[in-house]
Amino acid sequence: KPIYVLNGPNLNLLGVREPEIYGYTRLSDIEARCTELAAARHVPVVFRQTNHEGELIDWVQEAREHASVLILNPAGYGHTSVALLDALKALSQPIIECHLSNPHAREPFRHHSYVSLAAKAVIAGMGAIGYELAIEAALRLIEK
Ligand code: DQA
Repeated sequence: KPIYVLNGPNLNLLGVREPEIYGYTRLSDIEARCTELAAARHVPVVFRQTNHEGELIDWVQEAREHASVLILNPAGYGHTSVALLDALKALSQPIIECHLSNPHAREPFRHHSYVSLAAKAVIAGMGAIGYELAIEAALRLIEK
């Protein structure tokens, strides 16, 4: 079963948007690294980004049926979306929450994450490398 890597709003602008916070690596580069890492261990990756809350929820529901592990960077919706949390709660697979920046070192409104209530683990503050760490963590969970 594939590892799903789902990305929320504005992450399509990675590399361009606030690079001093989010880095210069583009989401397509992150996708390539994740796919390569998992392929070396014979696990496929489904990697997607959306700016729409409902579409993200549809994909979480899809992951519920098809994913081995879900890696999710909910972006801004992590701080706001009860509906996203409800969708995540329907999964029995492990969920790894992933952020480029460390939200706890930033504005107070970023300190709370609805997604964390459903996540097995959180990786934050390591920039694009955090996605690779999340893939490694997911592979360990699958191989265990
Ligand atoms: C983010 C952190 C969020 O607070 C922010 O809204 C984002 C990106 C991150 O990856 O650091 O859009 O999820």
